[in-house]
Amino acid sequence: MSSVTVPATAPGEVATSDVAIEAIDLVKRFGDFTAVDGVSFTVPRGSVLGLLGPNGAGKTTTVRMMTTLSPPTSGTARIAGYDVREQPGMVRQNMGLTGQAATVDEILTGRENLRMIGGLYGIGRKTLARRSEELLEQFSLADAGDKQVKSYSGGMRRRLDLAVSLLATPPVLFLDEPTTGLDPRSRSELWEVLRELVAEGTTLLLTTQYLEEADQLADDIVVIDKGTIIAHGTSLQLKEQAGSASLVLTVSHADDLPAAEALLRKNGAEVFVDVAARRLTTAAGGLGDLPRVAAWFDESGIAVDDFGLSRPSLDDVFLSLTGHRAEESSNAEDTDNTTDEERS
Ligand SMILES: Nc1ncnc2c1ncn2[C@@H]1O[C@H](COP(=O)(O)OP(=O)(O)OP(=O)(O)O)[C@@H](O)[C@H]1O
Ligand SMILES: [Mg+2]
Repeated sequence: MSSVTVPATAPGEVATSDVAIEAIDLVKRFGDFTAVDGVSFTVPRGSVLGLLGPNGAGKTTTVRMMTTLSPPTSGTARIAGYDVREQPGMVRQNMGLTGQAATVDEILTGRENLRMIGGLYGIGRKTLARRSEELLEQFSLADAGDKQVKSYSGGMRRRLDLAVSLLATPPVLFLDEPTTGLDPRSRSELWEVLRELVAEGTTLLLTTQYLEEADQLADDIVVIDKGTIIAHGTSLQLKEQAGSASLVLTVSHADDLPAAEALLRKNGAEVFVDVAARRLTTAAGGLGDLPRVAAWFDESGIAVDDFGLSRPSLDDVFLSLTGHRAEESSNAEDTDNTTDEERS
């Protein structure tokens, strides 16, 4: 989405000055459990990398290692040219982080939180006042700015958390599942804010379980599952990897589903029926399928609401890479172990 569309490359392929984030064979073990198992990627300056994976994939652990919060078992990372092991202080000065758990102070108001944390960053008073108002406005919190955070909804807390991490406009920003818990409108508002930041030169690494989010924002996507990278490329490349397009047809009346299914079978491939959505899906050979299938339905008299070719979604990508849908992975265990120490 940004002006920079250079895909991330293997370490060493891009001049160091053009690389804002570099993960070099990062490994993290907890006892004999390996949470992150040799993750490497680079992110060119001014671009967005989406780290995509289901619950427990190792996204937060990777981000924690890259932001000096958790020492790698082996491997390292470089942020804005500084090594997380050798120069953690310089890394912190050049990055911002919004962790998965809210870290704002409940007792203070939204405005007070911004002022307090901005003060800790050493931002001058005038600049801080202006910046706080801008951020409250940008995140639709201007009206709630003088209310205590404990009265905020989950979405409002999330937005304040993000506003706080944007106070210092660091060159490299890490966002761990920034839009989890936000309603669709707040989510697209946040995407807009992030696009503006990137247009101004910020390099962004965001983790997400939302395939659509990576699709919308990321120039380059790293898919991880069980601690290892299982795919890496642009959204388009990943979708092409997932296979050909499918033919999707929605009938007007659920009663017609069996007849419609029988007709589609004539096309030669397996047909998937989503009864609730009155939708049938089958693999398409190409554009030529469209007129042929359309003619069959025309003759049959089955009323059709919607008919067309659909590219594989990132959901399909996930399915083809891992054998399971992203949403299917276990939600039972809450792997969120981020605490106050999350914030640098
Ligand atoms: N401090 C820890 N001690 C032991 N195991 C841990 C610790 N932190 C994380 N893990 C384990 O490492 C794996 C990866 O966890 P991580 O939090 O990085 O996943 P995630 O991709 O961020 O998942 P989610 O989408 O749920 O946030 C999980 O199996 C988790 O239980
Ligand atoms: Mg996580």
